[in-house]
Amino acid sequence: LEAGVRVLRFILLLIVGLFFLANVVAVVEMAEVQQHNYRIVGNALASLADIARITQDLAEERILVDEHIFEKTADDRTRLEREIDRLDADYRRAARAYTPLATFPGERPVWERLQAQVEANRAPVADVLRLSRLNEDVQASERLQELRAGYDAISKDSEELIRINRNVANQAAARMNALQRQGLLALGGITVAGTALTLVAVAWVMRMAARRRDEIDHWADLLESRNRELDAFAGRVAHDLRGPLTTIGFSADELARRAPPGERTSEVLRRAIARMETLIADLLALSRVDAQTTTRAASDAAAVASTVEEDLAASVKKVDGHLRVDVEPATVRCSEGLLRQALWNLAENAVKYRRPEVPVEVAIEGREHDPSYEFRVSDNGAGMSREDARRVFEPFFRAEHTRATPGTGLGLSIVRRVVEANGGKIAVESQLGQGTTFILTLPLSGGS
Ligand SMILES: Nc1ncnc2c1ncn2[C@@H]1O[C@H](COP(=O)(O)OP(=O)(O)O)[C@@H](O)[C@H]1O
Ligand SMILES: [Mg+2]
Repeated sequence: LEAGVRVLRFILLLIVGLFFLANVVAVVEMAEVQQHNYRIVGNALASLADIARITQDLAEERILVDEHIFEKTADDRTRLEREIDRLDADYRRAARAYTPLATFPGERPVWERLQAQVEANRAPVADVLRLSRLNEDVQASERLQELRAGYDAISKDSEELIRINRNVANQAAARMNALQRQGLLALGGITVAGTALTLVAVAWVMRMAARRRDEIDHWADLLESRNRELDAFAGRVAHDLRGPLTTIGFSADELARRAPPGERTSEVLRRAIARMETLIADLLALSRVDAQTTTRAASDAAAVASTVEEDLAASVKKVDGHLRVDVEPATVRCSEGLLRQALWNLAENAVKYRRPEVPVEVAIEGREHDPSYEFRVSDNGAGMSREDARRVFEPFFRAEHTRATPGTGLGLSIVRRVVEANGGKIAVESQLGQGTTFILTLPLSGGS
């Protein structure tokens, strides 16, 4: 499943990435095409303005030439000629502006033909004006009449230019509209598809995760109920063994009294019975931890530590050791009885697994360690290997090199259970042949 989720996450990223890329490409492409269309439309509009100006200049010029013939005074004629010159200058300016724009298919030849016609008209027009100034009105009119075909050709060509530009502009505008529609559709499509895919993938991941959570919950429940059953069973067995063991104890005492002096068997029997009693007591303690734990249980760290100190003082003294207790007062979450048992088990181990060659040093320390409380039980004893340290909290585990010392291997399991049942945790730091420190963390009472 982990791998599945990883692959899925990759696919999701890929989809999002592709989706993003497709959008960018679409937008960039659209922008480019639109830019091109804008240029075309811009060109067409500018061309149309220029052509309109050219057409108007030429048409006006024709009218003025006509008027020239009918004017009688020299002054009026001069005025008209100046006007004609002005129109001609304006025509040239418009033509210069328009020439570089005449790039649409079929446009340039028409434009060149128009310009050529304008040039061809110049000499006859000058002729007309000359005749008109000489008052040869009839001849001038005739000459002007001959120019009609040329003027018609010019206006036809300018109409043709307008038609070409208007067509191109219309086509470009149509393309722009179509593209806008297509772009919107494409973007919409990509967005909808990408979103749908993403949603499907997310839904799938969530379903997988939920199924997995259900599975974990199921197994956790099962495990917990099995554990409870096992505890109850171990507790009952331990309890049931106690009765016969008491009887065996009495009988052993009786046998010892009757035995001849120096007889060792009853001594061996007594020791075996004692070991059995410890084992049963430990098993009962272990099976009762959860039942004894309530969430509201609390005790004073310093008070409990001092009772442990009292209990332990004698055995430390017996081996010429030294016990130091430095525990800050605080209310921790754990019943008094269980906390005493946990600290006692740790301290007892510290004395039990001492090194014979050095006087035992045991320290029990306790400090508030926001947001919890931390006990440290340390010794300068036999220590343990890293491998053993990892397994010490397993029930019945005993390190190879300590097997000669009697024990059940249940003490630390009880400690761990006490701590964990109260929402705390336990750790060990140890160095073989140097010493060991157990770190026991419990929540402060009153805190959550
Ligand atoms: N303070 C310690 N120093 C060295 N070894 C220890 C210490 N405490 C525990 N151990 C090791 O962990 C084992 C398990 O300890 P515990 O659960 O208390 O059981 P027991 O003391 O009955 O053997 C011990 O047998 C010993 O090998
Ligand atoms: Mg022990």
